[in-house]
Amino acid sequence: MNLQFIFSLAIIAVSAFAKRVDRHQHHDESQSNDQTSLLVELSNLKYNLTWYSDFENQEVIFEVFLLKPKEMEVNRWLMFGFSDHGKIEGSDFCLFNYDGNRNFIDGYLNDKLEPKIDFHQDCFLEDLDWKNGTIRFRRKFTTCDIRDYAVEPGTTQFLLATGLDEFKSMNDKNVSYHLRYNMILQYPVKFPANDPDAKTMTILAKDAPVPPQRTTYWCAIVKLDENLQNQKHHVIKIEPVITEGLEQIVHHMVLFHCAAEGDAQYVFNGNCLSSDMYHMCSKTLAAWSMGASTVFYPKEAGLPFGGSGFRPLVMVEIHYNNPKLKKGLRDHSGFKLTYTPNLRPNDAGILEVGHIYSDANSIPPGQKAFPLTSYCIAECTQKLPEEGITIFGTQLHAHETGRKLWTSHFRNGIKIGEVNRDNHYTHHWQHIMALQKPVKVFPGDVLTTTCVYDTADKKEFVFGGYEINNEMCMNYIYYYPVSEIEVCKSAVDNSTLRAWFEKHGVDGSNKTYFHQKYQQLESKWNQSMTDDLIELYTSSKINMACLNHTGQLFEGHKTGWEKIDVPQTFAGIFEKHRDSHECPAIND
Ligand SMILES: *[C@@H]1O[C@H](CO)[C@@H](O)[C@H](O)[C@H]1NC(C)=O
Ligand SMILES: *[C@@H]1O[C@H](CO)[C@@H](O)[C@H](O)[C@H]1NC(C)=O
Ligand SMILES: *[C@@H]1O[C@H](CO)[C@@H](O)[C@H](O)[C@H]1NC(C)=O
Ligand SMILES: *[C@@H]1O[C@H](CO)[C@@H](O)[C@H](O)[C@H]1NC(C)=O
Ligand SMILES: *[C@@H]1O[C@H](CO)[C@@H](O)[C@H](O)[C@H]1NC(C)=O
Ligand SMILES: *[C@@H]1O[C@H](CO)[C@@H](O)[C@H](O)[C@H]1NC(C)=O
Ligand SMILES: *[C@@H]1O[C@H](CO)[C@@H](O)[C@H](O)[C@H]1NC(C)=O
Repeated sequence: MNLQFIFSLAIIAVSAFAKRVDRHQHHDESQSNDQTSLLVELSNLKYNLTWYSDFENQEVIFEVFLLKPKEMEVNRWLMFGFSDHGKIEGSDFCLFNYDGNRNFIDGYLNDKLEPKIDFHQDCFLEDLDWKNGTIRFRRKFTTCDIRDYAVEPGTTQFLLATGLDEFKSMNDKNVSYHLRYNMILQYPVKFPANDPDAKTMTILAKDAPVPPQRTTYWCAIVKLDENLQNQKHHVIKIEPVITEGLEQIVHHMVLFHCAAEGDAQYVFNGNCLSSDMYHMCSKTLAAWSMGASTVFYPKEAGLPFGGSGFRPLVMVEIHYNNPKLKKGLRDHSGFKLTYTPNLRPNDAGILEVGHIYSDANSIPPGQKAFPLTSYCIAECTQKLPEEGITIFGTQLHAHETGRKLWTSHFRNGIKIGEVNRDNHYTHHWQHIMALQKPVKVFPGDVLTTTCVYDTADKKEFVFGGYEINNEMCMNYIYYYPVSEIEVCKSAVDNSTLRAWFEKHGVDGSNKTYFHQKYQQLESKWNQSMTDDLIELYTSSKINMACLNHTGQLFEGHKTGWEKIDVPQTFAGIFEKHRDSHECPAIND
């Protein structure tokens, strides 16, 4: 059995159930990233929803195992819905309905949240054992039914519901439902087996008091032990450790290496801004956001850790989001690292692409789908090693209004692929995607990261920035071999933006921040200004943050990484995609 990063061959021949057997058989030899189940609790009902992707037949097989009560009530109905971005209305579902008889239907929720039967039936019951509480059914990935959800890579927003007697409306008091997030399309990715010489260490906040305020950044700086200081190791696994009960408060965490010169004896546990070392800890080792799970490294690479040239300090930065201003919370979250002295062939690194955190990148109110694209330009990727890098994992990140996120890959101006795409992004469930087919990026390639935001229900601008109610657009790229680049991000050029404000009758000078200038336009905002702003964002000159591991701009750029032309890129007509007019779905 090949335990490598080889996936595609296996997919074709293996049926859904064979794959399940396969997973159990090889449990001891390898670790898998599969996350193909959800534990669902709805009022008094508890069940395990499991699914397998059958790529040969282009369908998903869902299985339900009842955990509580022991036996399904005769008059119970169960709904397995798929929501377009968390909306209840319009959701597609497969439903075991009870209307005196038990029947299985494909339907949707209308605008009164009543179940309606689809013209075309696409949910197929395979097996039903009501007494034992097991159900098995299947659904094609895409059905080309305007009432149906198209299963795509990335996040799926499940709408799970249950009740007794006939299901008449989601508004009925005795209906319980909730939204859950996971990926349906699971490409099998295998990782190396456990290393017997591996050890673990944790980097945790120490009894951090989470104040009753919306946003807090807490930092803990930890020193590596003697063994790690003396010998280079590879980190091969990174797990989040989240304090029980604070799952909804710990919003995201980043693990940094304090690579810059500084006091090697320094330890810290406090508000990030009160640490003198904060800015010296800028080399990202790992990033985690709500919903993400463990990062495994492929057999080709590990994250370099320890040894004589390695400054022995690491820092965890935790973003607490406490919108209900809860008092008395104490946190000790952080990361658990598994490291080994058995070095793998390559050192791995993380590259941050996306938008510079700045209010220059802001989103007007009332937009159903407002795009912002950032660029990692050729002059920056020139700093990559000559033989290129191999991307094996990626994590997209935005905040509340981020809806579709992806990174495109261009060579000689032509789009040759994508590095992760999520058309149903939710910040409630951020995952690190282990790539089934690693992506090779060469010096001179261009990576663009696009986020499409939904501010339809907002009356005010959403500004770019660090706060939870600001927006971000990021892709944390996990790759090997490590390069000199830490960050490759862009923002619209400041002086171009100032000129744009002048054109729209707002003082463009430095007297106020960009967000204040946007605010001045809020009251008279209209569609033609939206079009103008999109034009600015897509065609104006840009500023680049092409930074090295100490967080400084690379030297020697002819304009100091400012006022750079947007790279000319073309997405060809050769791309495979589902056309929404030919093959519609609710999630277009
Ligand atoms: C749910 O099912 C999955 C797949 O069979 C299994 O790995 C998991 O342990 C189950 N969870 C529970 C709580 O039964
Ligand atoms: C219920 O499940 C058990 C275990 O899977 C099985 O042995 C038994 O035959 C099932 N009962 C019925 C009535 O199918
Ligand atoms: C649930 O609500 C429906 C509609 O209001 C009603 O017909 C049914 O009797 C209720 N069932 C229970 C168990 O309360
Ligand atoms: C551009 O403006 C942003 C936001 O005000 C500021 O943080 C940044 O330093 C400016 N960049 C340059 C190159 O002046
Ligand atoms: C605004 O600040 C930038 C540097 O941050 C400077 O280059 C520019 O001249 C200033 N513009 C005005 C109008 O003061
Ligand atoms: C939009 O607002 C601008 C500035 O207030 C104004 O000049 C323009 O005529 C408006 N356009 C439309 C279509 O209302
Ligand atoms: C980063 O760049 C700065 C300025 O160009 C340089 O002084 C520094 O040594 C570089 N750091 C690393 C780790 O390459």
